[in-house]
Amino acid sequence: RHAEVLNKLSFEDFVEKLGNIVEKSPMVAAAVWSKRQFYSLKGFHKAACDFIDGLPINGKEGLLRCFPDLAGTLAREGRLSADSTGEQRSAGLFDLTTEEQTNIARLNSRYKRKFGIPFVLCARLNKKDAILRGLNIRIKNSKEQEVETGIEEAKKICWLRLVDVLQGEQVNIM
Ligand code: GUN
Repeated sequence: RHAEVLNKLSFEDFVEKLGNIVEKSPMVAAAVWSKRQFYSLKGFHKAACDFIDGLPINGKEGLLRCFPDLAGTLAREGRLSADSTGEQRSAGLFDLTTEEQTNIARLNSRYKRKFGIPFVLCARLNKKDAILRGLNIRIKNSKEQEVETGIEEAKKICWLRLVDVLQGEQVNIM
């Protein structure tokens, strides 16, 4: 049982193993450790989501700002986290045509200029076309909507990363 594995971990091992379930924000795992015992993976994920939902708006923005751009500079330079690399690869973002690459870079920077946060969308649930469509649609929203939508996407990413950690490898679900 996966929840039992989690319940047995020391704080240090817990944060080491689960520190990146939200990109570069080990504080989420650190906070959720106090909520043991967990009875299921869903229960653990719920505790992480509750913590995230309870953050003030600047905390939510801070979480989102820790995500790299999809198909951005870090990706091109091979400097993404292992988690993000796998996700972006599964969405086909390492196989973009030059035109798609330019398109997504332009939209990403327009999005960031408008909202002050990166465009976050669960890459493993969206192929490159859906990502481009999502950028085009979401860029029309308000800042408040985008913080909320980005956070909802971060929770989906978190769930899939959590499943990976406990199964020991990334599962390709698309
Ligand atoms: N969706 C899944 N992974 C990522 C990521 O690393 N960055 C962004 N922006 N969205 C994602």
